[in-house]
Amino acid sequence: IEEAARENAPKGMPPRKGQKLKFVSLDERKTNHERIVTNISEFDRVCGGGLVPGSAILVGGDPGIGKSTILLQVTAAIAKSKKQLCLYISGEEAVAQIRLRATRLNLTDNNVQLVSATNVRNIATSLDNSNPPILVVADSIQTFYVDNIGSAPGSVSQIRASAHELIRLAKSRGFVLLLVGHVTKEGNIAGPKILEHMVDCVLYFESERNSHFRILRAVKNRFGTSDEIGIFEMTEIGLLPVKKPSAAFLADGEISADGASVFAGIEGSRPMLMEVQALTAETRFGTPRRAVVGWDSNRLSMLIAVLETRCDLPMKGCDVYLNIAGGLRINEPAADLAVAAALISSIIKVPLSGKVVFFGEIGLSGEIRSVNRSDIRLKEAESLGFNTAIIPMQLQSAKPHSSSKIQNLKRIPIKHLKELVEYITTRDTNKTRIPEHLEHKE
Ligand code: TYD
Ligand code: MG
Repeated sequence: IEEAARENAPKGMPPRKGQKLKFVSLDERKTNHERIVTNISEFDRVCGGGLVPGSAILVGGDPGIGKSTILLQVTAAIAKSKKQLCLYISGEEAVAQIRLRATRLNLTDNNVQLVSATNVRNIATSLDNSNPPILVVADSIQTFYVDNIGSAPGSVSQIRASAHELIRLAKSRGFVLLLVGHVTKEGNIAGPKILEHMVDCVLYFESERNSHFRILRAVKNRFGTSDEIGIFEMTEIGLLPVKKPSAAFLADGEISADGASVFAGIEGSRPMLMEVQALTAETRFGTPRRAVVGWDSNRLSMLIAVLETRCDLPMKGCDVYLNIAGGLRINEPAADLAVAAALISSIIKVPLSGKVVFFGEIGLSGEIRSVNRSDIRLKEAESLGFNTAIIPMQLQSAKPHSSSKIQNLKRIPIKHLKELVEYITTRDTNKTRIPEHLEHKE
């Protein structure tokens, strides 16, 4: 469409004079970029330390995940701390319904004003200049419409026009705009992809089925890092920030089953320990099944191939299921070592008993490569009571001083995946459980 438009455009500009633009210098710092802090710690974290006035934030997620809940909490929190007007515009619920939710959440504040509306023109007209809001929630963008466009609310052109109008208002009046967006079956925010380009931040709210944890993930952020996550717990009084995410996502006590390992990872700016679970079973018919939740399936195929060729592990006739516990998703290559450990443990049926964490990237030849920010990974593991860390060899020699503060964590540096296989095999006191083909190798 864009290309067609370009082709139809007149060649060159007519000689009419345009308006003169005013340029400002790059280092002219404006003070009005101070962020509005909600004091809902996990929300502030995902937004990069608070909300920027005049910015637009899109919050997407499945129905019932808690979008309206968190935004009502954010609205009330800001109204309370800033003592300024905050508006909550719902195109989905009646005012009475929102009030009911607010009562449940124990939120009452006169500075929060509710309205049930869908016509963007009426919304624009109702934004009073004498008492301007500092925050406006529009729930959801799919229900709003601009009355000079014929198509129904929720259509691409209506979503685009409504969002454009609301964002323009936010920029010119300087309020924070929080837009709710529905997601499609594929998990993308419904409507045109350009909706994501129009806003400053895109946050996704997600969770595993039946889990009471909710993960708010920044996928785009013009004012902060875009790989930050915030973790909440859904309770009867709303969404509460989870203070110690590592502890929340790990099972209590030691892992005693085979096929489970703990990865010392980094999510955004903080370390986080995650449990990797693998299950391998003999394939009954035809091609082996490989199912992955929370990790990259191509990466899993690569690891399986490396384990097979470099370590002689029998993976060929195996179905492999891999899961990251708690509905988390890992994007770091540093998780390779933990995934490999879970796979090996499952194949040879030896549990990784004890408090062990793993991190390291695995290369195609089976070599263990170093990863970044190892000291904060180790520190987090130590603070959660882990006593052993299997880490890449290079880390050990590169910076001996950096991890000097770590005392109770034994570090076992390894160079090759074979050493990991050996480490796990030798953990088993009951040798009879090791499959025959591995015993012959010794
Ligand atoms: P909601 O915020 O309406 O979801 P969305 O706007 O994303 O569709 O959340 C609805 C769900 O949250 C509903 O299943 C009930 C649950 N809930 C709680 O468990 N505790 C609460 O305090 C509230 C308000 C909702
Ligand atoms: Mg809702």
